[in-house]
Amino acid sequence: MQTDQMVRTFVDFYLARGHREITGTTLIPPPGDPVLFTTSGMHPLTANIEGEPHPLGRRLVDVQRCLRTTDLDEVGDDTHLTTFEMLGTWSFGDYDGPQSLRWGHELLVGRLGLDPGRLHATVHPTDLLAPPVWDELGVPVERTDENWWSNGPTGPCGPDSEIFYWTGDGPPTGTPTTDTRWVEIWNHVTMLYRRGDDGSLTPLDQPSVDTGLGLERLVTILQGGSSVYDTDGFAPWRRHVPPLWPLRETDTRVVCDHLRSAIVVIGDGVTPSNTGRGYVLRRLLRRSLTLLWRDDPARTLGDLPPELLTHTITHFGLPISPSSVREVLLAEEKRFRTLLTRGRQIVSRRLHRTGPLTEADFRDLHDTHGLPRDLVETLLNH
Ligand code: SER
Repeated sequence: MQTDQMVRTFVDFYLARGHREITGTTLIPPPGDPVLFTTSGMHPLTANIEGEPHPLGRRLVDVQRCLRTTDLDEVGDDTHLTTFEMLGTWSFGDYDGPQSLRWGHELLVGRLGLDPGRLHATVHPTDLLAPPVWDELGVPVERTDENWWSNGPTGPCGPDSEIFYWTGDGPPTGTPTTDTRWVEIWNHVTMLYRRGDDGSLTPLDQPSVDTGLGLERLVTILQGGSSVYDTDGFAPWRRHVPPLWPLRETDTRVVCDHLRSAIVVIGDGVTPSNTGRGYVLRRLLRRSLTLLWRDDPARTLGDLPPELLTHTITHFGLPISPSSVREVLLAEEKRFRTLLTRGRQIVSRRLHRTGPLTEADFRDLHDTHGLPRDLVETLLNH
């Protein structure tokens, strides 16, 4: 099953159950949201979860692109991506968590054909409604304090029930918290409270249900691949990048992930800078360039095949031309190259004069010479 077909199956399943489809937003969250980027499908709907009526009613379904900087260190493994897509469903004070779990199970097993023997659920210890549903459906349950979703430091929050799929060879062993071969695919949150600026929890007038399913993870399972990089969405990247820039497998994955994310972030209107979203973009590009230049400093993003730009722009529906994206990439590459050349001279003079760098050196290199710590560390490591 191709990604597009999988999305259609999901959306149609919920349309047939009274949901209305909304269009996902950009990666830039609404004003006042405490996060830098949209990290979950619920961000654009925070006000509705807190009680504001939505013009399309109380049941919604969508596909939302998300970006998580918290997962950056795990990118390159089989399951984490910086930018990924989340299939989401919402009940604003309408049906409850147990109904959401039953439909989720019906879709995964009855419609998409997942092996029910490979499912495992986790729940928050305070959630007394989810365990009987999982028991009835024959899905084993683990209770853990981690099953609490919150929208950043403030905003709606509540207990969640996560659905995991066994990706190991042979029969399942352990539980989601004891064996990482259980991969989380879908999170069903019952939003019960709003956390205020002072940390206090106020019960919401109407509990809502917010679910998020990791599209690339589910497609990996349905397509029988061993990592998210094996899905059809990454096929052009896998075809073009290794012959162009031969790297170790993990580095290839990081470069594909970071450049694809950078294209989406640029398409959503961000330019590289030293703060906020622009700094995240800068880090994605500089990390890619650092990996590319380790073996061959002559490599350039100017060689990025046009098909990868157009494929990403088309898939995410970005309002930008490939040439505008390329311009931003090349300007940042040039800037980084210049900074590295200048930085290399300054750092090597400093090492020669005073030996290994101290905290005071890092501070001075930053404040006096404009060399950020991560850049100096890159210079020291290569
Ligand atoms: N907000 C929840 C999550 O991101 C469910 O969508 O996991």
